[in-house]
Amino acid sequence: MEQFLIPCFFASFYQTAWSLPLLVLSYFFLTFFLNICFIPGGFAWRYYHQNPRNPLKGPKLSWPFLGFLPQMGTLAHRKLASMASSLHATRLMAISLGSTRVVISSHPEIAKEILCGNSFSDRPIKESTILLMFDRAIGFAPSGDYWRHIRKTASIHMFSPRAISSLESLRQYIANEMVEKAHKEMKQRGFVNLKNILHKGSLHNVLGSVFGSSDKGNELGLMVKEGYELIGEFNWADYFPLGFLDIFGVRRRCHKLAAKVNNLVSELIRERRKIGDFRMRNDFLSVLLSLPEEDRLNDADMVAVLWEMIFRGVDNIAILLEWTMARMVLHPKIQAKVQDEIDRCCGLDRVIQDSDIANLPYLQAVVKEVLRLHPPGPLLSWARLATHDVHVDKCFIPAGTTAMVNMWAITHDPTVWPDPWAFRPERFMEEDFSIMGFNLRLAPFGSGRRACPGKALGLATVHLWLARFLQEFKWTPSEPVDLGECLKLSLEMKKPLLCYAISR
Ligand code: HEM
Repeated sequence: MEQFLIPCFFASFYQTAWSLPLLVLSYFFLTFFLNICFIPGGFAWRYYHQNPRNPLKGPKLSWPFLGFLPQMGTLAHRKLASMASSLHATRLMAISLGSTRVVISSHPEIAKEILCGNSFSDRPIKESTILLMFDRAIGFAPSGDYWRHIRKTASIHMFSPRAISSLESLRQYIANEMVEKAHKEMKQRGFVNLKNILHKGSLHNVLGSVFGSSDKGNELGLMVKEGYELIGEFNWADYFPLGFLDIFGVRRRCHKLAAKVNNLVSELIRERRKIGDFRMRNDFLSVLLSLPEEDRLNDADMVAVLWEMIFRGVDNIAILLEWTMARMVLHPKIQAKVQDEIDRCCGLDRVIQDSDIANLPYLQAVVKEVLRLHPPGPLLSWARLATHDVHVDKCFIPAGTTAMVNMWAITHDPTVWPDPWAFRPERFMEEDFSIMGFNLRLAPFGSGRRACPGKALGLATVHLWLARFLQEFKWTPSEPVDLGECLKLSLEMKKPLLCYAISR
């Protein structure tokens, strides 16, 4: 019965006096929706894609208003790579994320144009970034005098070769702790959960270099964890003007976390001032407190800079080492080759030092190959923002557009890297290749003025800890290794790596 009633209702409805205006209205709604679904690149490009002389390519069908947000999940780097390749838009592709215009390059030449030019020297800022104070820290401060000042200060006092080598004893101390924990876990549980060990080790390492020793490690660790969740969480305010609704409570939680961070870091600053021994110490807090009057930061900015260092220093290093160890466990011959190299360099008895790393080219090649296959920032993590109208690869990009580089797509492109899916560190023995951002075929730390300032510190830590792990143990899988990925703030292993550590 109902099958007949519904069409009859609509038929009689359209026979009324309202039928014509309703038909016209439906026509307009339908064409409007069809139009915004079919704008190449999506809704956010509606004013810019009309020019037939602009060769910017983009997918021709997207969700109305949402654009490609529904596709940006934990495998966004892979989805964007396959979209770009199927549209022949690897050089540059336009998409919309809500009302945000985005261009993405999966090509080394165009990536260089974006990262190293002057037009993309700022970063797009999310609401949570501002609430968590990162807009006053190096990563998100606009590229003016303030950004230059804090970046220079950190480069001299935290990331310079002298500063890095002054922290070697801390790295060694934490390596000893991690080795001991691995022994203990083997004895108690029969296998090692490397993810936990690496995260705790990285946290202690960065806390040591930023604050010297601190008994607030656990509290800060929890804050960093919550910060990662909040920054990675979807927030309406970043993509739609309806953001004031705070539907998922991100804003409320950010306020709460920022207050906690502020209290704790300010207390550490006050304590250090009271003790007054900062001129004799080499941690970053002491360095900031001993700067000459004219260079000194106010307390609020100091909190932001110190908090950022902790925030960035933990995740990337732990994640890169976990991927590297997963590869070592999966490729026992390559593991044995690195161990041979280590044994030839310093034997089983002498503990490996920072100064030995230069004599371990194969170990360095292994890390490069891991960075190629599993870059911790596959979309170079922090996007860039066009500060003015600009042409990239002859396409017009309006000011305010977000630009991303899909480093994962570049490092998996067979026209850029032969046999890109194979784990073959030998390729870096055959070719002398710097990963410090000069060649965009592999630039896991970004490139240009906003490239990662922590790259040398990050690599020194990863090289030393990897060498210590391999010198101490032979590693084998305790269950099949799963290379599944999950893109949060960084590209993590989906399942934690569990393995056996057998003393050598
Ligand atoms: C394996 C380790 C690391 C990787 C893969 C990595 C990767 C990156 C990437 C891809 C960028 C963006 C570059 C760009 O936009 O061109 C970046 C920026 C940054 N990184 Fe790292 N990073 C690592 C370690 C560290 C460490 C240990 C620190 C500090 C303790 C750090 C601090 C920063 C900062 C402050 C920025 C922002 C720079 C700016 O905007 O001026 N990173 N990093």
